Amino acid sequence: MTMIATTPAEGLRMPPEGARLFAAPDPGRSTHLATYGTIPDVTPAQLLEQVRISGLTGRGGAGFPTVAKLEAVIAAANGRAVVVANGAEGEPASNKDAELLRRAPHLVLDGLEVAARITGAQQAFAYLRPELIPFVQQALAEREGGLRITVVPAGAGFVSGQETAVVSRLDSGPALPRFSRHRIFQRGVGGRATLVQNVETLAQLALIARYGGVWFASAGTADSTGTFLATIHAVGQPLTTAATVWEINHGLPLRPVLAGAVGRPVEELQAVLIGGYHGTWLPLPAAADVPLSRSGLEAFGATLGAGVMIPLGKNACGLETTATIVGYLARESAKQCGPCRFGLPELAHTFTALAAGKVGRTGVDAIRQAAGLVEGRGACKHPDGTSRLIRSALRTFADDVRLHQHGRCLARIAEPYGGAR
Ligand SMILES: Cc1cc2nc3c(=O)[nH]c(=O)nc-3n(C[C@H](O)[C@H](O)[C@H](O)COP(=O)(O)O)c2cc1C
Ligand code: SF4
Repeated sequence: MTMIATTPAEGLRMPPEGARLFAAPDPGRSTHLATYGTIPDVTPAQLLEQVRISGLTGRGGAGFPTVAKLEAVIAAANGRAVVVANGAEGEPASNKDAELLRRAPHLVLDGLEVAARITGAQQAFAYLRPELIPFVQQALAEREGGLRITVVPAGAGFVSGQETAVVSRLDSGPALPRFSRHRIFQRGVGGRATLVQNVETLAQLALIARYGGVWFASAGTADSTGTFLATIHAVGQPLTTAATVWEINHGLPLRPVLAGAVGRPVEELQAVLIGGYHGTWLPLPAAADVPLSRSGLEAFGATLGAGVMIPLGKNACGLETTATIVGYLARESAKQCGPCRFGLPELAHTFTALAAGKVGRTGVDAIRQAAGLVEGRGACKHPDGTSRLIRSALRTFADDVRLHQHGRCLARIAEPYGGAR
């Protein structure tokens, strides 16, 4: 990863050279301070201004501008804000939050302290996958004074990290998304204005507080500043295998990123799923030169999501892989809303039949229609994410969809499915 170090503005620290989030060789407090220095003693308004300049967006999936969330919480807080580090990482294909918490827990805790300073919060939570709690407890034991942070084990499952599920769990309820007339920045934990940020967003915030927004935006592109953590899978690896995490500059094209991380030229791949299980299939090598940025990916109807990339080799069936994921997503829904109770199981069933070469043209039309029916109808974006995945699969594997309608499969063209039409 290339990085430009700039001269820091007055009151800011000089950044380390090289990697940003993974610059410290070990997770200990003294190494952390030797690597990054302390956070300058500036006002909350100055910190907020640096976040604005940085252009930081959330790394938990939705990519929402962090400054706008901070401002919304400040406006609603009335001095009683709550800040939450979201380390649930419910997506099984993602490993970046776990890696970050293992290697740089103090950056995440610093970020939570910065968020609390900006919003005036006195109450802070770290909502974490249970296996990561010891790493954070160890880091907390090394810190003196400062903000009191309560560690809470995250619920299990794909939707446990959705922000209303996080709030529900912190209020001693189930880790399931919940309906509310209010957004959590208005009324969240204990009825207070609540800021939920992904742990990587907080770690980036900790760097911005030290080195400033201009430094942060010196990596990346105008609309996607800084670096991001990507979990990039090996070809043919089971979807849930822990994959390698990379820190990448926004704006780098897909081609060198995949060649470097996967160890194969894009010409040997047929597609990559970008953004994880709620993500978008991009065709390869057609999309090989797309820059990994908001505007670059927009042209393909994609976003980086939480940075998961799953490459697909030429001899794998994209429809089968998609069917496996859709089946998982249907099982993982909280089954509280119509689209998740009825729509997703139906979609999973029909898509599995398509992948098995047992669905004709009307079946494909039914999938498209059902995908449209679940969009925008849930209490959370789970159905929308599932629908996005399905639509992109039908688009990217269009040739294979046609073959499957006739009981054949591009990946094993010589082997028609038995009993198919
Ligand atoms: C079904 C679903 C699951 C989610 N799971 C996570 C998760 O595990 N971790 C996370 O940080 N955000 C998750 N999110 C996004 C959160 O709702 C929220 O937008 C995010 O934590 C905000 O942090 P950010 O602005 O720093 O990205 C999920 C969203 C949805 C719809
Ligand atoms: S849309 Fe699905 S996952 Fe989201 S709250 Fe409703 S039932 Fe749960």
